[in-house]
Amino acid sequence: MICRMIDKLEINSTVVFTPHYSSSMSKRIIHSRTERANRFQDRVEEEFPEALSFLTSGELMVRGHFLKHMEQVRYPGTGWVLIEFGTAVTWIETLIQVRRIISKGYYPLIAHPERYRWCRRKRSRLIKLSKMGCGALVSARSLSFQKYASTARNLLRDGLCHAICSDAHSPRDYILDKKLEKKLEGFSRIPWSVITRTMPELILNDMKLPELPLLEQKKVL
Ligand SMILES: [Fe+2]
Repeated sequence: MICRMIDKLEINSTVVFTPHYSSSMSKRIIHSRTERANRFQDRVEEEFPEALSFLTSGELMVRGHFLKHMEQVRYPGTGWVLIEFGTAVTWIETLIQVRRIISKGYYPLIAHPERYRWCRRKRSRLIKLSKMGCGALVSARSLSFQKYASTARNLLRDGLCHAICSDAHSPRDYILDKKLEKKLEGFSRIPWSVITRTMPELILNDMKLPELPLLEQKKVL
């Protein structure tokens, strides 16, 4: 599956593998998952030695009072961490958790904000999160779910996200290829190059992301 998907990507792309973790997982499970992810990266690197780069990070489901396993989801060499919440998470709880993560010195990348009720009700809340130093990553996979597709499209239309991620769970899911680029042309007002190259490069270079919305920041676009 992964070979067929990677074959469609532009050369010189960087693929970041983000296996799921949860703040309630035991150390033993975390450890074995990390080992598997690293072995997977080694295998793929052998298969595609030059055209692409691969990194392994993770996506952490943040729950409860203890901030655990943050290092597992740190993008290598950066302070950025990819986090997600349960879809029913409240706006207040999101703010509290984000503040706690920032206070520990990490910069949160909010995965698929379009799935959270607080975002579907009021998308402009992402502006506040971006002012706090967060990134917002729309999932291309959300475009296939009736419940989330319109919010995902509206975030792209209004410049209320920093990047689009494939979030590919199966060969049927979108990847960042020409087909997705074409689909986004119909509604996204953020250039494809910005959400698939400029912003991801800032993340991988451990740089700050601009405040949202992106559309008003002409120098970025
Ligand atoms: Fe997720």
